[in-house]
Amino acid sequence: MVALKEVRSANSALDETASKKTAVFIGATNLQGIGYATLQAFAKHTSAPRAIIIGRNASSFAPGLAQLRQFNPRGRFTFLDADVSLLKSIGAICEDIKSELGDQKLDLLYLSQGSLPFAGRKENSEGLDTTNAVRYYGRVRFTQNLISVMSSHARVISIMGGTQEGKMLEHDLELSRPGNYSLTQSNNQIASMMTLSFDHLAKENPDKSFIHVFPGLVSSGILARSATGILNVLFAWVVEPMLGLFVAKADGVGERMFYYGTSAVFAEGSWALDEAGVSKEVDVLKEYRAGGWAGKIWEHNLSVFERVVSK
Ligand SMILES: NC(=O)c1ccc[n+]([C@@H]2O[C@H](COP(=O)([O-])OP(=O)(O)OC[C@H]3O[C@@H](n4cnc5c(N)ncnc54)[C@H](OP(=O)(O)O)[C@@H]3O)[C@@H](O)[C@H]2O)c1
Repeated sequence: MVALKEVRSANSALDETASKKTAVFIGATNLQGIGYATLQAFAKHTSAPRAIIIGRNASSFAPGLAQLRQFNPRGRFTFLDADVSLLKSIGAICEDIKSELGDQKLDLLYLSQGSLPFAGRKENSEGLDTTNAVRYYGRVRFTQNLISVMSSHARVISIMGGTQEGKMLEHDLELSRPGNYSLTQSNNQIASMMTLSFDHLAKENPDKSFIHVFPGLVSSGILARSATGILNVLFAWVVEPMLGLFVAKADGVGERMFYYGTSAVFAEGSWALDEAGVSKEVDVLKEYRAGGWAGKIWEHNLSVFERVVSK
């Protein structure tokens, strides 16, 4: 276990060279969220931070941008406007990111975009479940598109469900057949698919690091923002305020996520980390790994991308 105290002191002690970093953040626009807390840690602990932030509402993020510039006046923070729910839009935004980077290489890619599928499977115009398109397929697509502009020791950090891998419905990876979709199945499925995709990427890019982390419970407002009707009211007025009293604060979790991007421990390979930063291989993941599922999931990703993007 990595104690938060240890995390904070390692972050504060980063030396000048280690702390010159260029990062892309997707899913860091909610000021109460984990992504934004990570971005704050990045701005505070990096001597010359360069961050490109992707989000769907520039005006609502303006206070966030102003705060980052206050934290570190030497930093360069650029906001690019994009809704990342469609793979085709991700292709376009990645080209914008590349021109924004110019000759600079990308050191850190933080992926925390998403919501929870309380309303079940909802298909988007590309034929994918809307929630899983954002929190799984989109994250893999960003990684695939940006890998060519990453520095040799770059790290990709996906904040979702590392160590929470579960049994997949192997014959319906998109959960498109009637009766197969549920909140639990969707979470189990994409947690496994994310770690297995990272296994494949780490094998193909041995100089880089791919970290899939479960952040633990954080009262970020994600429950209410993912729900509608009575469920939204219940989450916003009862559940989230109560949770806020007991669960981890976004600030500390953001410090942790930044630590995974800089600590020498996580320099290479594929990592599934729990909320305390412990690397675990749950039984079901062990079986999938032994059964060659990293390659199979990667093939599945490619076939989805081919079907959707070439249309
Ligand atoms: N909070 C927890 O307890 C917890 C526990 C386990 C796992 N997680 C996972 O951790 C990740 C971050 O969660 P969080 O609690 O920090 O929630 P959050 O702040 O609501 O993070 C979600 C982010 O994704 C962005 N986003 C969603 N759909 C988008 C779209 N179509 N285009 C562009 N941006 C989009 C949101 O942007 P807007 O500001 O525009 O809405 C927001 O910045 C999520 O994947 C979540 O499932 C959270």
